[in-house]
Amino acid sequence: MFPTDRPRRLRATPGLRRLVAETDVRPRHLVLPVFVAEGLDAPKPITSMPGVVQHTRDSLRKAAAEAAAAGVGGIMLFGVPARRDAVGSGATDPEGILNVALRDVRSEVGDALPVMADTCLDEFTDHGHCGVLDDHGGVDNDATLPIYGEMAVAQAAAGAHVVAPSGMMDGQVGVIRRALDEAGHRDTAILAYSAKYASAFYGPFREAVDSQLQGDRRTYQQDPGNAREAAREVALDLDEGADMVMVKPAMSYLDVLRRVADSADVPVAAYQVSGEYAMISTAVERGWLDRERTILESLTAIRRAGADVVLTYWAAEATAWLDR
Ligand code: PBG
Repeated sequence: MFPTDRPRRLRATPGLRRLVAETDVRPRHLVLPVFVAEGLDAPKPITSMPGVVQHTRDSLRKAAAEAAAAGVGGIMLFGVPARRDAVGSGATDPEGILNVALRDVRSEVGDALPVMADTCLDEFTDHGHCGVLDDHGGVDNDATLPIYGEMAVAQAAAGAHVVAPSGMMDGQVGVIRRALDEAGHRDTAILAYSAKYASAFYGPFREAVDSQLQGDRRTYQQDPGNAREAAREVALDLDEGADMVMVKPAMSYLDVLRRVADSADVPVAAYQVSGEYAMISTAVERGWLDRERTILESLTAIRRAGADVVLTYWAAEATAWLDR
């Protein structure tokens, strides 16, 4: 006989579909990651991320003002220094590129747009690792922690509302929380990259920050096959005082994201990384995927899997397609 249960009834018109939509993406959910490079005369395109640039200090100010006007949820700054050394001195120097750019952006947007800073040494070290090295060339967890603390304090002093430790050192959130509090930055929030995988999808980011890395980050970032371990990382970070937690990358880790979203009692972010951006961009360029539909579907899927906040290089652009 005929089916009596007809889910199609609720899909019949745009109005009905809108009425029953379970997931929405709004500009406020999106955070725009941006790169600012020291010593550039003009913005420099990143070949493997079409449409994304290394900003000058001036072009970054403009981009931040535009993002604020568009109503995005936040902006996340990454710095690309002109000089690097073994301990990443540019990260803690108040005159380092990331810290001066934070001051620029904060003076441009005030409190209208949450300003976030990547708290990690990989852009600043001459070996490209997220921490300092021990005598055997390994990444020294405990020697790195005080530098992260100092870096976070410099970022807070420069105006960051949120610091975002992404180096996957054990204990980093606790050390940063203590350092911020001792320096009087009690209101600076921590967005912890809690479940960050050793992913091939970060490939284009290496070009974006002129990364010096040889080898990989598998001694500190997570194995892509491990999901239970993500729950452990999140629990530790919450215990140490994380205000928000993140899963990264996003699209290949939606199950992990769901798991984290179901258990964490803080806002959960997901990072749609450079390789995800590059894949879709390239297919769109070739005419194989529809730009707007594909980007919005990817963002909707990340939200559906449980992300309150999505970091995406399309943040500013996508706002034009979204209801406020
Ligand atoms: C580390 C960091 C990385 C990314 C964000 N923060 C690189 C890495 O861990 O290798 C990748 C972001 C992207 O690929 O878009 N500071």
